[in-house]
Parts: sequence; structure tokens; C-alpha cells
Amino acid sequence: MSDSRHEFGGDWTELKLEAISAYSKFFTGAIGGKFDVWYVDPFAGTGERTAKEEIGGIFDDAPISTIEKQYPGSAARALALTPPFHHLRFGDAKKRHVKALQALVELYPDRDAQVLAGDANEFIQNLFSQPEWRERDRSGVRRRALVFLDPYGMEVKWKTLQVLAASQKADVWFLANLKAAVQQLCHKHEKLSEEKRNALTEYFGTNQWEERFYDIKQDEEDMFGSLFNRSQRQANKQDIAEFHRECLAGLFCYVSSPLPIAVGSTEDYFLLYCMSNNPTPAATRLIDRGASWVIQRYKQASRHRSALQEGVQSPSC
Ligand SMILES: C[S@@+](CC[C@H](N)C(=O)[O-])C[C@H]1O[C@@H](n2cnc3c(N)ncnc32)[C@H](O)[C@@H]1O
Repeated sequence: MSDSRHEFGGDWTELKLEAISAYSKFFTGAIGGKFDVWYVDPFAGTGERTAKEEIGGIFDDAPISTIEKQYPGSAARALALTPPFHHLRFGDAKKRHVKALQALVELYPDRDAQVLAGDANEFIQNLFSQPEWRERDRSGVRRRALVFLDPYGMEVKWKTLQVLAASQKADVWFLANLKAAVQQLCHKHEKLSEEKRNALTEYFGTNQWEERFYDIKQDEEDMFGSLFNRSQRQANKQDIAEFHRECLAGLFCYVSSPLPIAVGSTEDYFLLYCMSNNPTPAATRLIDRGASWVIQRYKQASRHRSALQEGVQSPSC
């Protein structure tokens, strides 16, 4: 028996997954007749999302109690999509999640769907380094992938994005965890540890963030002759997000405007981007049309949801 319980996220997660499903439908509908279409989800979880919800109360005239509900996660949604993907590849680092994904895939015996256990970066780098993803399409098989990068934190390595960009055949939806990056960027420059520096350089793909975000001053002496330093971060959340988008645009020729995923009342802490490095202008126009439509539609829902949530504590994603 596999255990598909996976408690994470909240109603903002449904918004994110709705956006991915909407683009998936656009993607398979627009090009599924001409191309071999793949869905690649290396942070797939168990395929489902478990949520604890309160029911009852005075309006229901029933005592308040907590129930557990299961919602389809990214993998379950991708498997059930129509028009369908021709090939689906899921992965996760956790053994229990992989077992649950395998059980889910077995419910769709007519699909070419496989589950890989292990690190998402290795998974993507291995798959997209293969000749069929790197070389120009030969006559006969023309392939395109929709890749969904949905980590908890800053797990996506820059090299992984480089490999995806080099393939030129992937529309990549990337959940950028701005909250995690901002947390690493301490206000006092002297508090930046080597570990934080390395994590941030991996996230931005460059070490230029340091001079961009910090007002670096010389050491000063206090009245007792001890040295101190006033260097502070001057970049705010918006500046950090813009710099990150610039870095992504150095790799991909198309980077959408972000869909802000408002978690509780802390708006814009997660930013969902669609990116592609497809060199064909007509393909880029089509990707932009689909991605812009999805982002506009769900941006309004995100703002509305965050207004409703005003004052609610921000849980982790
Ligand atoms: C936010 S959840 C994904 C949820 C899933 N996309 C969904 O909507 O149902 C992140 C998942 O990534 C997995 N994970 C974390 N680090 C990973 C890594 N380095 N490689 C692969 N999976 C990882 C976790 O075990 C977790 O299941």
C-alpha cells in the first residue's frame, strides 16, 4: 500500500496548480497534433495534496471539527489532462513520495508515464542533455516539453536552468521562491555567511547580487578603537525580484512577467514564471500568448484571494 498523504500549501497552491493546468491544456491543444509533447515534473510530491480543513460553526449549525481532504496535485492533474501529454516523467527525492507516484501512474496503464527517484537537478540535467533534447529536430519526431519546477525552497540549481535553456525545446514554469532568497539576504552585510553567499550565487547564477543589493562601506573605528561596519542591504523585495528576472532573462530569450503567488497576506513572495529559449519567433509568440493569458487570468484571482486573506498569518509554502 502506498501513502499519498502530502500536507503542504493552501488555497494559493490551488491557484498555482490551476495556472499550470490551464497552460498545459493550451500547450497540448496548440502543439500536441504536430509535436511529441512531454510533461516533466521533477518535484512531483505524491501526486496529491492533503489539506486539513475546519468544518462546522454557527452558520452550519454544527460543532467545529477538522477534516482531512485530498486534492489532485501536479502529477494527478497532468495525467488526467485532455488533450493528453504523450509522455510524462515525474520525480521526487523522497522514497514515500516516489512510491505514491508509482501507484498513481499505474492507474493510467495506457500512458507512457514513468517515475524517477532522486534529485530533481540530476533528473533534469540527465534527461535534457540527451541528444534528442539537444539536437535540432530531425524529420519525423519533433518534440517539446512542459517542465514544471516546483521546489519548496531554493533547490533548483543554475546549471539545471542552463541545461533547459540550451535544449531550446522546453517551456519551463518555475516557481521562484523569493521569500527564501530574501531570508538569506540579511540586512547587515557582515552577517552574510559563506553558506548564504554560495546559496545566493547558485540562485542568481552570478555573484553580482552582492554589490547590487548592498551599500558596502569601509570599516570604521569606534571610540575604543574597535572596528565596526555600517554596510547594509539597500535592495528591497521588488529590487531582488527584478534582479532575479534579469538573471533568468540572460538564459532564456522569453521570460514572462511573474504571476505573484500571495501566501496569506504576504503578497508576491512566490513568483511563478514561464520561460522558453525557443529560437523560432512564431513559437515564442505562441508561448507568450498562452503564458500572458494564464498570468493575467490568475493574477486577478491571486490579488482577490490575498485581499480576502488580509491579516492571516503567512504559513510556509
Ligand atoms: C512543493 S512540493 C511539490 C508539489 C507538487 N508539485 C504538487 O503540486 O503536487 C515539493 C516536492 O519536492 C520534493 N523535493 C525537495 N527537494 C527535492 C530535490 N532536490 N529533488 C527532488 N525532489 C525534491 C519534496 O519531497 C516535495 O515532494
